[in-house]
Amino acid sequence: MIIRWKHLIVLVVLAPLLGLAVGWSGLMSVRASTGHWAVTDWFLHWVMRNSVSARAVATGDVPPLNDPGLVPGAAGHFETGCAVCHGSPAQPRPDSVLAMLPPPPDLKVVVPEWTDAELFEIVKHGVRFTGMPAWPVQSRDDEIWSMVAFLRKLPDMDAQAYIRASGLHGLGHAGDVSPLPITCESCHAEAKLNDGSYIPRLAGQSEAYLLNSLKAYAEKTRPSGIMQVAVGTLSVEGLPELAAYYANQTPTARTGAAHDPILIEKGRILAEQGRRADKIPACLSCHDKAGANPAYPILSGQNSAYLQNQLALFQSGGRGGSEYHHLMSGAAKELAADDFSAVAAYFSAR
Ligand code: HEC
Ligand code: HEC
Ligand code: HEC
Repeated sequence: MIIRWKHLIVLVVLAPLLGLAVGWSGLMSVRASTGHWAVTDWFLHWVMRNSVSARAVATGDVPPLNDPGLVPGAAGHFETGCAVCHGSPAQPRPDSVLAMLPPPPDLKVVVPEWTDAELFEIVKHGVRFTGMPAWPVQSRDDEIWSMVAFLRKLPDMDAQAYIRASGLHGLGHAGDVSPLPITCESCHAEAKLNDGSYIPRLAGQSEAYLLNSLKAYAEKTRPSGIMQVAVGTLSVEGLPELAAYYANQTPTARTGAAHDPILIEKGRILAEQGRRADKIPACLSCHDKAGANPAYPILSGQNSAYLQNQLALFQSGGRGGSEYHHLMSGAAKELAADDFSAVAAYFSAR
C-alpha cells in the first residue's frame, strides 16, 4: 500500500489524541508500590545519566578538593539535609524512604561511578521527578564543591569518622556525646576549628554583627545553603539569645598557624594603610579598632581559609550580609588574589 500524505496527517493528529485519551482514562499507574518495569527503570536512568554527563561538560575547572577544611561544613549539612534520604555511615536509610520510587541510593556505593563535575551537577541542580532536591542557594558553587569534596571521602568513612566530621551528637569524642542531632556547636565548636576551616569562629565576635548575620541568613540576604538550612527551623525571636551566647564566649588562645612572615607583613601594611593607588582603604579604619561600629565584624583570630573565602565572595558580589555589607564590597573590589592571602594571614595571626 502506498502511504499518502493524507494518512500521515491523520496519524499526526490522532497520535497525541490517543496519548491524551490514555492519560485521561486513568489506566496509567502512578503507584510507587508496584515499581517500574525493568525496561522503564533502565530507560529513566539512561536518560538521567546522559543528561547529567552532557551538562557536566560545561561545569568548568574542578577546584582542588583535597583541602580537609572543606569537609566538616559539608558533612554537617549532609547529616541535616541528605542523610534523611541517603542514610550515612552512622545510620542506614530508613524503610520509609526505601519505599520511594526511585529509592535514594546508598551514596557510599554509587559515588565512585560519577566524576567530580557530574556530582557537582547533581548536587547543584537535583534530579527532577525523583525527590532529589537542588542545592538551596544556587549562587554558592563553593559550598556545592565542598559537598563534592565530602562525597569523595564518604566511601572510606566509618561511623566514627562520620560522627567526628559532621559533629553529629556533639563532637563525637568519648564522654562528649550529646543526645542532640546537629547543633550550632556541631559545626562551630572552637575545638573543631583551625586556621584552615571554612567555618568561622564565633566566640567573642561582636554581638550586633552576629545578630545581623543570623538575620541575614534567615532573610536570605546573605546566601549560604549551609547556614540557611541551619537557621531555617529557628524562630526569629530566638536569634538574639544565640548571638549573645557566642559573643560572650571567650575565644580560646590558639598557637598561630605557620604563615610566612613576609605574607603577614604584606597583610599588615594593607590593613594599616590600604593602597591608595588602587583605592583600597585601610581595613583597620573600620575593623578591630577601639570605638568601631559594633556592626562591623572582628577579624583578628578568625580562620584564614574562612576570611579568604569571604573576601572572594565580596569581590564577586555574592556575599550579601547586613545593611552595611555594601561598604565591604567596595573595600574588596580592587583586592588582588594574593592580597586575600596576605590580609587573611595577618588577621588570623593577630
Ligand atoms: C528527599 C530525598 C532526598 C534528599 C533529601 C537528597 N536526595 Fe539525593 N537522591 C534522592 C533520590 C531519590 C535519588 C535517585 C535519583 C535517580 O535515581 O535518578 C538521589 C540521587 C542522588 C545522587 C546520584 C546518585 C545516583 O547514582 O543516582 C547523589 C550524588 C545525591 N543524590 C546526593 C545528595 C546530596 C549530597 C544530598 C543533600 C544535599 C541529597 N542527595 C539529598 C533523594 C534525595
Ligand atoms: C552544618 C554546619 C553548620 C551549622 C550546623 C551551623 N553553622 Fe553557622 N556557619 C557554617 C558555615 C559553613 C558558615 C559560613 C557561611 C558563609 O559562607 O556565609 C557559617 C556562618 C555562621 C555565621 C556568620 C559568622 C561571620 O563571621 O560572618 C554565624 C553568626 C553562624 N554561622 C551562627 C550559627 C548558629 C547560631 C548556628 C546554630 C543555629 C549555626 N551557625 C549552625 C556552618 C554551620
Ligand atoms: C568602610 C568600612 C570597611 C572597610 C574599610 C573594610 N571593611 Fe571589611 N567589613 C565591613 C563591614 C560593614 C562588614 C560586615 C558586612 C556584613 O554586615 O555582613 C565587613 C566584613 C568583612 C569580612 C567578613 C567577616 C566575616 O566574619 O564574615 C572580611 C573578611 C572583611 N570585612 C575584611 C576586610 C579587609 C581585608 C579589609 C581591608 C582590605 C576591609 N575588610 C575593609 C566594613 C569594612
